[in-house]
Amino acid sequence: MIHILTLHGPNLNFLGRREPDIYGSDTLQEINTRMTALAKELGAELKIVQSNSEGALVDAMQESAEWANAVIINPGAYTHYSIAIRDCLNGLRLPAVEVHLSNIHAREEFRHNSVIAPVVVGQIAGFGPVSYLLALRAAVSLVQEGRR
Ligand code: DQA
Repeated sequence: MIHILTLHGPNLNFLGRREPDIYGSDTLQEINTRMTALAKELGAELKIVQSNSEGALVDAMQESAEWANAVIINPGAYTHYSIAIRDCLNGLRLPAVEVHLSNIHAREEFRHNSVIAPVVVGQIAGFGPVSYLLALRAAVSLVQEGRR
């Protein structure tokens, strides 16, 4: 069984009511349900954590360091400035996929830079909730290919 840690950063617990014109109307629970169903199809097990705090996201990664074969992370606003999350991901030495609902490159300039992107295998952005499903397929493939 492939083990995938899925992390949702700050304000993603407010999906559905948060700027629906940008992030869509699906709730985080709905996204998690779709991901869990796809994981089952692909032979993967998910551990899903949402936190509004940087330290809790780092703790979740450290705690799953042995369990997980790959990480999917939407760091929310931390994408743009959290060196702590970047360092943690880098230290895990697990394949990771960065996810965004919105196309961060088409938005305000401060969102164009991700400090996370250099330490992940790749980034998927702009497909709304489908971004997470694509990230899950990517993460499973990375594990199957034996990538780190
Ligand atoms: C986001 C994009 C970030 O810039 C923003 O701070 C978020 C959500 C996205 O999924 O599109 O919280 O990560």
